[in-house]
Amino acid sequence: MLSKKMQSALNQQIAHELYSAYLYLSMASHFEASSLPGFAHWMKKQYEEETGHGMKIYAYVHNRGGHVELEAIGKPPVKFKSPLEVMNQVLEHEKTVTGTIHALYELAIKENDYATQVMLQWFITEQVEEEKTVVDIIEQLKMVGDARAGLMMLDRALGARG
Ligand SMILES: [Fe+2]
Ligand SMILES: [Fe+2]
Repeated sequence: MLSKKMQSALNQQIAHELYSAYLYLSMASHFEASSLPGFAHWMKKQYEEETGHGMKIYAYVHNRGGHVELEAIGKPPVKFKSPLEVMNQVLEHEKTVTGTIHALYELAIKENDYATQVMLQWFITEQVEEEKTVVDIIEQLKMVGDARAGLMMLDRALGARG
């Protein structure tokens, strides 16, 4: 059985993951309206992934005989700036999420909850990959600078994300 404390921390994490999904969907909408369909596609994929993360924890809580209590999800921002600023915002957000995953892992260690530690290892690896992917896009955006043609090419590349 999960401890009450761990269960509530996992419930909080579900809300963080679903807020991430919400944030990226709002960014997707911004890109749709900015004639950058590739960036919008990438953000919608990100939305799906984050929803999947939330559901992974949802399933885990039940597998451990726990109960999911859904927390309120905040309203994401509506207005965004340049693609570079948006991707910097994504990186900052992912770093915050990495912090919450690490805090959960610390709690699992403190409670000698080995199963939760193993489950969280997947998330720790995932956060490293996500941050790396975003850093790469930021670097490409910096290279592109103000060149519209470069931005269109990057948009096409992001649109090819499977
Ligand atoms: Fe996530
Ligand atoms: Fe993420």
